[in-house]
Amino acid sequence: MSLQPTDGPEIEQGQRGRRDRLGDAAFDYYMPLELVRGEGVYLFDSAGQRYLDMYNNLPSVGHGHPEVVSAIAAQSATLNTNSRYLNKTMEAYAARLLRLFPAPLGNLVMTCSGSEANDLALRIACAATGRKGIIVTAGACHGSTAAAIEVSPGLRERLPAHVRAIPAPDQRLAGQTALGSWFAARVYEQVQALREAGFGLAALVVDSAFAADGVFTDPPGFLAEAVGVVRTAGGLFIADEVMAGFGRTGALWGFSRHGVVPDLVTLGKPMGNGYPTGGVVAQDQHLACLEDAVFHFNPSGGTSVAAAAGMAVLDVIENKNLVRNSVRVGQALRKGLRRLAKSFPQIAAVRGAGLLTGVDLVARASGAPDAEMSRRAVNALRQNFILAGTAGPRRHALQFRPPLTFAADHVAQFLDIFARVLATLGQAG
Ligand SMILES: Cc1ncc(COP(=O)(O)O)c(C=O)c1O
Repeated sequence: MSLQPTDGPEIEQGQRGRRDRLGDAAFDYYMPLELVRGEGVYLFDSAGQRYLDMYNNLPSVGHGHPEVVSAIAAQSATLNTNSRYLNKTMEAYAARLLRLFPAPLGNLVMTCSGSEANDLALRIACAATGRKGIIVTAGACHGSTAAAIEVSPGLRERLPAHVRAIPAPDQRLAGQTALGSWFAARVYEQVQALREAGFGLAALVVDSAFAADGVFTDPPGFLAEAVGVVRTAGGLFIADEVMAGFGRTGALWGFSRHGVVPDLVTLGKPMGNGYPTGGVVAQDQHLACLEDAVFHFNPSGGTSVAAAAGMAVLDVIENKNLVRNSVRVGQALRKGLRRLAKSFPQIAAVRGAGLLTGVDLVARASGAPDAEMSRRAVNALRQNFILAGTAGPRRHALQFRPPLTFAADHVAQFLDIFARVLATLGQAG
């Protein structure tokens, strides 16, 4: 495998310049890559080289989707104002979006990002319950505001005392015990611990696809018992759909695969196909606190343009049957990966639902999770013009989350290259 043509001194120089201006927050996913254009499932670099995008989860209905782009442009040219005015675009969007949620989830507060949505949901949960304790999974990423990072063990090492992490719902940890009961027992232990520490339980917050933990989607329904434990303890269940929502897991919402109705749902990235949009969907009773205990108003969230982008995204998902596509193409992808696993023992597990897939890579000799191999795999894929990412607390899992327009020929293209990458990694390891 050779480096693609744009690798070289210019890229290195570009990377140095970027760090000089943006600081240490400006790290790169892989060996640096300068992208100049996106279209559908493809991204293009400055040399015109095309990359198959299996990772960027912002443009969930595809890069530069013409309907979303036109909706944003048309609304920008007409009116863009905040949600404190009567605004038919925003109201029509809220009504349409809320019809996609089960009762009693009947209110939408729009935000600019998933982090802001989780921040607000946490504040609502604390105000509604009068308690402070939060339970999350060990690799979770719920965002980067001051409150959201506190509940993101995947992004920081030390958690504050009122935040407790439980292991991801991994059947290998549960052994012979049914996953739902095992996970509910872990939640129960932390409910007790929070009670004893004087915090009590405000909420269990989970990404309904456990993507940052390494992707744990099955068996559908396993979350229900844990949600029961939370409700018995008087806490709220917050389903973070920033990753799982809008069809990613082959259902419109990740939580619906588990047959549960959350108290609060948080939305983000895919909602506007990259236009900065997010939201909290809530039951009436939980929003009562917004007027006094929890102030929230973000003039940049819930604008007319955000609503127009959101409306266009829903149109595309519905008109192009993208939830169904997510199921069909996701299944084909995992089937192909499982076939590869028979020839490449580095693949220890393939998990996922819809177009969200996690692949555990392990060292051949020891069978131990191999973060270094994952890092080399994403770089080798990138050198072969496929963009992927890593996940899991030990970063040993590969994560694939292509646009929902991903098709059978893209799956074939990926599997062919991934087989060659695995063969190279096998030789090296
Ligand atoms: C599950 C989940 N929740 C929340 C967030 C934060 O969203 P944002 O980056 O839009 O603030 C992320 C970010 O990747 C996420 O994966």
